[in-house]
Amino acid sequence: MRHLIRGRVLGFHADPADTADNHRYHPDGAVILADGRIEAVGDYADLRADGLPETDHRPHLILPGFIDPHIHFPQIQVIASWARQLLDWLNDYTFPAESEYADPVHATRMAGLFLDQMIAHGTTSAAAFCSVHKTSAEALFTAAEARNMAMIAGKVMMDRNAIPAVHDTAQASYDDSAALIRDWHGRGRLRYAITPRFAITSTPEQLDAAGALARENPACHIQTHLSENHDEIAYTLSLYPQARDYLDIYDQYGLLGPRSLMGHCLHLTPREIARMAETGCRAIFCPTSNLFLGSGLFDQAGLRAAGITTGIASDVGGGTSFSMLQTMAEGYKVQQMHRHRMHPFATFHWATRGNAIALGIEDRIGTLAPGSDADLVVLNARATPAMALRMERAETLAEELFVLQTMGDDRAVAETYVAGRAMKR
Ligand code: GUN
Ligand code: ZN
Repeated sequence: MRHLIRGRVLGFHADPADTADNHRYHPDGAVILADGRIEAVGDYADLRADGLPETDHRPHLILPGFIDPHIHFPQIQVIASWARQLLDWLNDYTFPAESEYADPVHATRMAGLFLDQMIAHGTTSAAAFCSVHKTSAEALFTAAEARNMAMIAGKVMMDRNAIPAVHDTAQASYDDSAALIRDWHGRGRLRYAITPRFAITSTPEQLDAAGALARENPACHIQTHLSENHDEIAYTLSLYPQARDYLDIYDQYGLLGPRSLMGHCLHLTPREIARMAETGCRAIFCPTSNLFLGSGLFDQAGLRAAGITTGIASDVGGGTSFSMLQTMAEGYKVQQMHRHRMHPFATFHWATRGNAIALGIEDRIGTLAPGSDADLVVLNARATPAMALRMERAETLAEELFVLQTMGDDRAVAETYVAGRAMKR
């Protein structure tokens, strides 16, 4: 099954913060898709061939699909919940909503709707938190497999300090996670993330179980939350009085490494920053969530200078939009508060190849490299009347990208390809 798509093709092969030679742009370009992979990328005139089926997306841009490295599947109906800050938001809205995912009928319905929302917004891959219930992870993996999406997910482990309906036990969380790893990790495009929710909702025994899972399954990711909110940090340290700091808790249980995805990382001490860099942990920036919950301002330039690989994510439903364009827009504004003006090439690199690097799967997704998986997004910078008006004065590709990230959302996503298949229209 070979198929050519034509448009203005843009992909990144290096970080714009590192080098000027960071992207390839083909104004009349094409991508040949074959058996779910990218076979070739180049100028349309060079790639067209008699008999090869074509889809013409001109004048739109074709890029690698967006990757969302921190999102909560059972929070799609929690977005826009009026709370004070993190801990109230969790208790008042989030834990009750997640309790409903014990029901496989509800979890299955929501899993399909969740992935369809991601696709509508041009997001082709994610690292997702499920609820505490094994059924929720099964529902999400089943729905992702049906769409052939590259999905990293795990059931949250949480055995205290929430409500009983979303509590497991250290042993049950170990057993359920191990069974899910056996059944789903490495199946097609699916991978498992060992997912202790955060230190507040895990006993030491449970973090020990998470550490055992990590030792026994070194190819799995680990995802959790770190240093998001001042009250959260104080409560965490009171529960683990022997720890030097928040990161040290996860360190003591063997949970740090290059496959560890740490959501938020807003109020880190110098020691925590140095230790994250030393162990290779990823820091995942969740701008719409950080602003919505009043959590703090992620220091991208500072963490990067310290040698930490970062990702940028929606964190739905603390985050307020599935759109990685809107996520980039809010991320840009947060960096402006640090007097750090990010170039649109850098933000688009971040949401594609950068996030793939954060997840350690840049050999499969996030670029247009031949042989990688054909996950693509087609973007229309004139999708709304206001965008079209602004675009009358845009002269460069960088300006167009900046209009897309500042004003765009799912309306700017003309098409989304998942493993070579058009999935939006
Ligand atoms: N910390 C622990 N759980 C969560 C969650 O669901 N969302 C956010 N933003 N932070 C958390
Ligand atoms: Zn989160």
